[in-house]
This record gives sequence, C-alpha cells and structure tokens, in this order.
Amino acid sequence: MKTKQLSRRDYLRLLGAGAGLAASSLPDMSQIVSAQTAQSSASAPPPESAEARADRERRMRWWHEAKFGMFIHWGLYSVLGRHEWVMEMEGLPATEYAQLAKRFTPKPNAAREWARLARRAGQKYMVMTTKHHEGFCNFDTKTTNFCAPKQGPGRDLVREYVEAARAEGLRVGFYYSLMDWHHPDGARCATDEAARQRFVEYIHTHIRELLTNYGRVDVLWYDVAWPLDAKGWESERMNRMVFQLQPDIIVNNRNKLPGDFSTPEQRIEAAEAGRAWESCMTMNDSWGYQRADDDWKTPKQIVRNLITCAHDGGNYLLNIGPKPDGSVPPESVSILNTVGQWMDKNGQSIYETDICQPRRSRNGSFTRRGNTLYFHVHFWPGGDGLAFAGLQTKVKSARLLATGKPVAFEQDTYRVRFTGLPQRAPDDPITTLVVECESEPKQDELFVRRRERGSV
Ligand code: GLC
Repeated sequence: MKTKQLSRRDYLRLLGAGAGLAASSLPDMSQIVSAQTAQSSASAPPPESAEARADRERRMRWWHEAKFGMFIHWGLYSVLGRHEWVMEMEGLPATEYAQLAKRFTPKPNAAREWARLARRAGQKYMVMTTKHHEGFCNFDTKTTNFCAPKQGPGRDLVREYVEAARAEGLRVGFYYSLMDWHHPDGARCATDEAARQRFVEYIHTHIRELLTNYGRVDVLWYDVAWPLDAKGWESERMNRMVFQLQPDIIVNNRNKLPGDFSTPEQRIEAAEAGRAWESCMTMNDSWGYQRADDDWKTPKQIVRNLITCAHDGGNYLLNIGPKPDGSVPPESVSILNTVGQWMDKNGQSIYETDICQPRRSRNGSFTRRGNTLYFHVHFWPGGDGLAFAGLQTKVKSARLLATGKPVAFEQDTYRVRFTGLPQRAPDDPITTLVVECESEPKQDELFVRRRERGSV
C-alpha cells in the first residue's frame, strides 16, 4: 500500500470541474460512457482541469510508451474449456457451477510461464482476471469462501501472478468484473435497494483488498457494469478509493465513468484526440480457455494489429486463456514467440512512438518517432517495386531495420521509391524500413491526383 495518500480535497481538485463530482452530475456522466465499450461516441469528454490532465499524463507515461500488454483470462471456466461465458450460455445453475471450484487445481506458479512468455513477446505489462463474471475470486478475500485460497487451488493465485510479473520486470494490472453471477445480490441489486447496498459494499471491499494487499498495482481494468449505472455502483466513490490507495494507478472506463482510457474490444478504433485507448483482443475467438476454438490469428495479423494501434497512439492488449492447470495453449505460445522475435528486431518502431499521420499504402503501414518514419511492409515486392505517394517532407536516408543495411531511394514531387531491394523479404512476417525525414513526415493523400491528374 502507498503511504502517500491524496486527501479527499486533493482528489476533488485533481479531478477538476468536469470529471464528475457532484451527485447531480452522475446521470450525464453515465450517458457519456453509456455502453461498456463506448469510446467513439460523438459526445466529447467533460472538460478537465490542467492539473488533472497533468496528473493523468504523469500516471500514464509508462503505459503510452509500453504499447503492448498481455491479457489473461483464467478462472473456473478454464476447467470446462468451453469459453468464459459457459455458465450463462449453457444455463448452469450457480450451485452446480460452484462445484468447479474444487476441481480447479492449477500447478504452482503457472504465472511464471505467462510472465516469461510476455517478456519474450515484447509485452511490457499484464492484466489478469482477479474475478470474472462467474464471481470466483482468484485472490484471498474476507468476504466469501468462493475464492482460490479456500477452494481447489489452496492458495492466492493473484499473489503468484503479481510476483511473477514483477520478477520479469512487467507492470501489473488487475481485471475485475463488477457483474457477478454467483453473488445472490448480483442481479437483484437492480431492483432491491437493500440488496444494492450489500452488493456494492461487497464489490468495493474486493477492490479495496486488491489495491491494499499486493503492493503497487499499475492498472485497474474494470469490466461489465450490468445491472447498475455509475450512481448505483457508487463509481465516483469507487474511483476515489482507488486513487487514495494507489495514487499512481490508471483505470479504464468500464465502471461507467470515463476513467483514464477507453477500451475498444475485438477491434481497433482510436478514441477522440487527446484521449488514451487500448484495444483488447483475443488470439482466437475466446477470452477464457476454449479447447475447441481453432480460429487462431496468424503472427502476421497480430503484428499488423500492433502496428495499427501504435500508428494511432493506442495500446494493444492481447489475450491468453490458460488451461485449468495454468499452462498456455501451444498455439498461443507459438504465436507470441514469433511476435517476440519480430519485436526483438523491430521494437523501436513500436515502443515510445508518436501518433503518425501517413497511412496510405497498399503494401504496408506506418509508425513514427519524431522525424523518423517506419514503413512496415506487409507484402514485399522486391526489386524496384516499393513506393508510396504524397510524402510532404524530404527523405534523408533509408535502411532496413532488421539488418541496418542502407536502402537506395529516389524521391520526386509525387513519390518515394525504394530501389534495388532483395527479392526475398529480409524480415518475417513484416519488413520494416526506417525512413529518416527532414521534418515530421506528413502525407498528402490527394496531392498526386490533384497535381498530376490536373485538377489544380
Ligand atoms: C467482454 C466479455 C468478457 C471479457 C471482456 C474482455 O466484456 O464479457 O468475457 O472478459 O469482454 O474485454
């Protein structure tokens, strides 16, 4: 736990005028983030004080630089291996489902394997399910026996995870589902005020335990706020407690408040300018272990997605669904190892990059750091066949990122053309060219059409 705590007044000041304080502002706040994954809504976020913005920038700096994280979905559903929504989808009664808690007997320190894998893949932080919708707590809690130390595992799985992440130098995130299918008040809290008060107390206590008992926590990743709104969850009070316990933490937007970042799910979509976002995605089509799901993405798709996120200033949180013993499905291991080999050579084109304006090519995509443009070639033409149009700044030099070998180029008003390229792509699955420019690279997408095709 942190000793440096914000007083309530400090906290209110930091939040500033617009971040939603007075109870009367709650209905508006919940409309602003009305859906779980809402971030593309037309309504702008509320104005924020300069101080609140500066504090957010401070807290989020490491995260913006990191770009790539590992999501982990692990719980009782892993025992069945039929998706993390199995309880609801197959209509399993809560009492029957709860029997799985005895059968959940993971091997010790499975999280070490995940953390090593994440580090090899070039991921800089991890976010693990401490409690998913099923209601089972992977952590030790005074509130219920339905938790790992008192059931099959016989120990605190969140503690093992935190220690594993730290041992590999990774930042630690906690996913926590507000929705709870196990707790008797989990649904009736919507219509019964006494139930709501009991349930909100239960949930707030979990969050307090999680942010008190494990040292520094870097990310709190709320999920599914059904069936309450921000007022019902007392989300303002929730976040206030969170920042009192962990002044450096960042929180997402899924407790019906905007939080620090948006969370597009299974898609890549930048938030409005100035707002942080993280796209979370599965490697097949399931978050929790789903033994029959063979719809794996290729390492190339994963790398392209990561590039797309970095291009637009976002992060990529890529999921694994470990088996009940904690081991990672071999397909995920193999994909992440390949991605990691690429990141070993190409990491500088992802980490700490800036938002990048050029985007138009049918061969590849771009990222940028200062005046350096990284041209990621997905479809390698070889020879003299690689070019892109409309660059508005002068290129000083070009080289292959993987080998450092210079690449010859010609530049005229309309295009930059790279010449004498080897027939085989020098890197796999994507080859990156480092294009050093005289000033910030900008591309005018219509320049060629307008000038050369005579419309100006
Ligand atoms: C959805 C799903 C949940 C998953 C989450 C990850 O909310 O309900 O199973 O954990 O997405 O973003």
